[in-house]
Amino acid sequence: MLRANSVYSKFLLIINIFILVIVLQKYFISKKSNPSVRYNDDLERIELFINRPHIFIGGSMSSGTSLLRSILDMHPQVKCGPETKFIQLILDFILNLQKNKKISKFIRAAGISNQILDDSIALAIYNVMLRNIQTDVGRLCNKEPSNAEHIEYLLKIFPKSKFILIIRDGREVSYSLLKRSKKKVNLSNFYKRLRYWDEMLKVSYNQCLNKGEKYCLMVRYEKLVTQPKSEIKKMVDFLDIEWTDKMLNHEKYVGTEIKISKKEWSKKGMEKKINSDSLQNWKGNIPGYNHTIVMDTFKMLKVLNYTD
Ligand SMILES: *[C@@H]1O[C@H](CO)[C@@H](O)[C@H](O)[C@H]1NC(C)=O
Ligand SMILES: *[C@@H]1O[C@H](CO)[C@@H](O)[C@H](O)[C@H]1NC(C)=O
Repeated sequence: MLRANSVYSKFLLIINIFILVIVLQKYFISKKSNPSVRYNDDLERIELFINRPHIFIGGSMSSGTSLLRSILDMHPQVKCGPETKFIQLILDFILNLQKNKKISKFIRAAGISNQILDDSIALAIYNVMLRNIQTDVGRLCNKEPSNAEHIEYLLKIFPKSKFILIIRDGREVSYSLLKRSKKKVNLSNFYKRLRYWDEMLKVSYNQCLNKGEKYCLMVRYEKLVTQPKSEIKKMVDFLDIEWTDKMLNHEKYVGTEIKISKKEWSKKGMEKKINSDSLQNWKGNIPGYNHTIVMDTFKMLKVLNYTD
């Protein structure tokens, strides 16, 4: 999260983003063109990048976002690449900026409309996605868990893109997060993670519903690992790409076709074949678990039908 406390530091951030946009525009301009800046051509080029059908993946942490992107990375037309955290940073930044009335007025007075700001953010994101892949590909894709909190905005700035939201039982998510961080499981730290899941899912589930099934697909982790073929088929249809059997065997390609970053903590999980080992490990392992209280407190469990 970016925390710019004073108006002055926010102003500096804006300057930085404008410099970034200018550098990006320079990069995308053909070297042959003379004069080097061609207003209409350049605008057209920017529009081209923004209007490609990219793919975004999001979901709560430990919901299978890495598994999902590994499966998609196996498709010859799609490349996601490792998580960058860049989108999270830049979207947090722009949301903070919009809250600052003074700065917003200043920007508006300079003739920078919301549309121009959105295009600038899109272009910066596009650049990072492209550099993250470093190759020619049919569809660029990006996975960051936090994308799930920005489904509507991402689909607004990339109007031809599609979003896949992966959803997993919050109780298993919470248990898995505690296990991963090697924390002792007790009711209070279990609730803390479940609350985070509940709040995030409230936002992302509603945003996904609002965008409609043409632009946002919900995939259940539980279904993906128990009926991978039919779930992957659904994703393939949604994205309008061809089915390939390779998508069922991503584990053989981790580190080669599936590029991972050293910081990605889900590497171990990605190297495993699609499996249903982690569906209800939480059961019987949360001391003091009270079903009635959990169902009443964390409402998204009921909404998403995780009621057993
Ligand atoms: C629960 O465990 C955490 C460590 O993960 C600890 O800090 C906390 O005090 C524990 N809470 C209770 C109520 O035992
Ligand atoms: C769970 O909590 C409810 C409401 O506080 C209580 O009535 C019920 O007896 C509890 N159940 C168990 C099994 O402790």
